[in-house]
Amino acid sequence: MILHVDQITHHDRYRLVIGAIVPRPIAWVSTMDAAGRLNLAPFSYFNAVCPSPMTLVFCPGVHGDGRKKDSWRNIEAVPEFVINITNEDTAEVMNQTSVVLPAGQSEFAWAGVTPAPSQTIRVPRVAEAPIAFECVLERIVVISDQPGGGAAIFGRVTCVHVRDDVYDNGRIDLAALRPIGRLAGDGYTRATDVFHMRRPAAPLPNPLPGGEGAAAPLHSPLPGGEGVPSGG
Ligand SMILES: Cc1cc2nc3c(=O)[nH]c(=O)nc-3n(C[C@H](O)[C@H](O)[C@H](O)COP(=O)(O)O)c2cc1C
Repeated sequence: MILHVDQITHHDRYRLVIGAIVPRPIAWVSTMDAAGRLNLAPFSYFNAVCPSPMTLVFCPGVHGDGRKKDSWRNIEAVPEFVINITNEDTAEVMNQTSVVLPAGQSEFAWAGVTPAPSQTIRVPRVAEAPIAFECVLERIVVISDQPGGGAAIFGRVTCVHVRDDVYDNGRIDLAALRPIGRLAGDGYTRATDVFHMRRPAAPLPNPLPGGEGAAAPLHSPLPGGEGVPSGG
């Protein structure tokens, strides 16, 4: 099957994206408007960009009536935000905060989520979240501000909160974190069926039938030292 994107509907494009790109992590984003009113909403178009400078990205869209999502508008007004990490324990309330409330009405109060002060920015984090990244706006890349469009909002992380039981000697403890991922429709998944693969250190033959020659090594060591971990 070949699908030319200009020959299918917006709805079918949406279903292809949310069904094919799975599971997606979820940014639970707290923001503040110019009047200091709080907003909280989940976004699964979310990922890491790089560890140094520590940078994350999430992508709010445009409503059918052409209005940008409140999180996007708030960050334009107050250029800082917190990306809270949700998990199995906070999944229900996270979902509640995806409700569309009138601008300025807080999903914190509506869903019964506790705002806790941040260290480096005015916008509070979610007290119940096991991990929270305080961010200052790095840049907004607008792909389209028309209905169906969206923007990539990059945040430079200034401070990270990690619940003590989730942090094990510099590593995040997966079993304690109990992360969730977003699937299509109403679907979510847990990270409970984990398998491991070592990354190859040298070029390997391409295992695909008809594959050509050797695949490129996945990472190259830096001269005279250990590779710097970068990509996910
Ligand atoms: C798990 C989950 C993930 C979502 N991901 C996105 C997303 O990546 N982009 C988006 O525009 N809306 C997404 N939504 C919908 C928004 O959360 C919803 O439109 C919310 O009302 C936006 O809030 P705001 O207008 O206060 O920013 C998601 C909803 C849920 C439940």
